This record gives sequence, structure tokens and C-alpha cells, in this order.
Amino acid sequence: MTRRAVPLGIGHYLPDRIVPNAYFEGLVDTSDEWIRTRSGIERRHFAADDQATSDLATRAARAALENAGLTPNDIDTVIVATSTPDLTFPSVATMTQSNLGMTRGFAFDVQAVCAGFVFGLSTANALIVSGQANRVMVIGAETFSRIMDWTDRGTCVLFGDGAGALILGAEEGAGTSDDRGILATDLNSDGRQRDLLYVDGGVSSTGTIGKVRMQGNPLFRQAVEKLAQTADSALTKAGLDAEDVAWIVPHQANIRIIQGTARKMGVSMDRVIVTLQDHGNTSAASIPLAMSVGVSDGRIRRGDLLLTEAIGGGLAWGAIAMRW
Ligand code: UT7
Repeated sequence: MTRRAVPLGIGHYLPDRIVPNAYFEGLVDTSDEWIRTRSGIERRHFAADDQATSDLATRAARAALENAGLTPNDIDTVIVATSTPDLTFPSVATMTQSNLGMTRGFAFDVQAVCAGFVFGLSTANALIVSGQANRVMVIGAETFSRIMDWTDRGTCVLFGDGAGALILGAEEGAGTSDDRGILATDLNSDGRQRDLLYVDGGVSSTGTIGKVRMQGNPLFRQAVEKLAQTADSALTKAGLDAEDVAWIVPHQANIRIIQGTARKMGVSMDRVIVTLQDHGNTSAASIPLAMSVGVSDGRIRRGDLLLTEAIGGGLAWGAIAMRW
């Protein structure tokens, strides 16, 4: 039996509190102008004190279920991509499963930082293609505001909180690149570069939560090259090229990285979904958030070829070609 994974529905959730760049002018030596021109970010959302990552994930999951016309027990598997779980364990995915009222299936988290959604989606695809699951919900959910160093202007102005969820279902037949579904995936990591972006605390080292540490400029210089390479690999595996792409749905870290990658791929910016100005960098949540916004405002249409790409701590990076 040959199967493929097709998108059934998508949704997202952003916390109510919107924080403009000007807020940081009172915290660190920065300016709205610097943040806009160097990163492209204008505002971001921060979760309320009583909102945990699983609460954001649950809201996004409900929106995706409604969009797909499904109920929680129609789902076999919940995968949450996050680096900011409520607790060390259990997983955000099992908490979300219970919040949704699911009484069946299985749930687990994946951790590949900003590339987490790409890794989670690739895992979901493998579960469906191998026949281990029929309907999988992949959620990217983060509360990066909880791991910011509010004295570090190089990081605290960049990140935001949010969640997005995509539901995949099984269809019979391998299909062709003209058919809907996940067409190809390309995953990479290089643990030698872990010092470029990490959190300086953890369970078995410091016993603390820690804060984000980033060497922004060296990371920036690697990002465009690696993202363009992985995007090209995913498209090549799918037997397609950049001209076929209707929309790049990139990880939203920096507008200059998004522009540089699109330029290297030969895709114009009017074929790129950009939500960075409103969301900041929401790590694993940024791709499903952007995809959900693109679908709900009508830009992404049934049958469009989407190319997602992301890079983050690890380093870990990857891309997925899918037809919506
Ligand atoms: O999502 C995971 C992947 N993340 C990324 O890929 C992020 C990659 N990096 C970036 O997006 C960019 O490197 C940043 C936005 C973080 C920084 O932009 P940059 O153009 O690479 O700036 P820089 O780090 O080279 O810093 C330039 C200057 C420095 O001052 P000096 O040394 O030239 O005097 C920084 O101290 O800008 C200074 N600076 C700031 N100034 C005002 C750094 N942060 C700020 C700030 N406000 N918030």
C-alpha cells in the first residue's frame, strides 16, 4: 500500500498582548528604527503570565480542527515542536491532547528549535506514509518571552510568542508532484555549531531554565546559504524547481535572511509570505503561523506549491516542498 500525506486544515493563535518595538527603548539601548531596519520586526505578541505553551498550542489546535471540519478524536497523533515546554515533562503534546479531550492516539514533542516545525512535519509525513498514523496534527508552539535576557539587546527585541497547527491526513497512492500533499523533505543538522544559538541552562547541567544566547551575525551569514541549499534539495527531490513555487513560507527570523534566501532561489518577494513584522521570531511556531495567515487571507490556494524552510539552534535546518 502506498500512501501520501495531504493537508486537511490549519489554524493559529496569538496571545492578546501586542508589544511594539518602542517598548524595548525603555529596557535596553535600542530604537524602533534599529529593530525595523536590521530585523524587519515591528511588533510581537507576548503570552499572559497565566498562559503556558500548551495553552497556545491548544488554541491553535482547536482552530485547525475547525478549519478541517474534524473533531479531536479524529486525530491519531499530536506532534508539538517546541523549545519552551510548560514543564520538563510530560510533553506539551500530551498536555494538548488532554486539553482537547482526546481519549485515543499518541502524542510527543520534537525539539529542533526554530527548525522544529519542519522536523515535526517531516516526522508526521513519515508516520502517515509508513501507515503508523492516518491523521496527524503538527503544532509549533512557543513562549520564548520566558527565556529572554531582558538586558541583552541583541536577543530580547527579536522573539515573540504564538502557535500554529497543521493537520495532515492519509490519501491512497504515491501521487505525482501535481497532487496535493507533502512532496519532499530535506533535514540537516550540525552539532559542532551549537555555540551560535543556545540556552545557557537546563535540567542536567545548571538545573535552571537559562536564557537565550546568540551570536547573531555569524548565524546570519550562514543562514541564507544553508536555507537556499536545503530549499533547492527539497525541490530537486520533488522533481521541481523554484519557478514552480507559488509561495515560500519561510521561518521568520530576519527580513534580510528571508529576502536573501528568496533572491538566491530566484523567487521574487511577492511570492513570499512575511508575517515577521507582526509576530517577531516565534521559533518553531513561525512557519505554521505564516502558513495559517496566508491561507486565511486567501493568498495560499488549493493546489499551490509551498516551500517552507527554517534554520535555528543546533544548528538544525531543513525544507519541505508541499502542494496545498
Ligand atoms: O531563528 C533562529 C535563527 N536566528 C537567526 O537567524 C538570527 C540571525 N541574526 C540576525 O537576525 C541578525 O544578526 C541580528 C538582527 C540579530 C543583528 O543584526 P546584525 O546586522 O547582524 O547586527 P550585528 O550583530 O552585527 O550588530 C551591529 C551593531 C553592534 O554594535 P557595534 O558593535 O557595531 O557598535 C551591536 O551591538 O548593532 C548593535 N546592536 C543593536 N543596536 C541597537 C545589536 N542589537 C541591537 C539593538 N539595538 N537591539
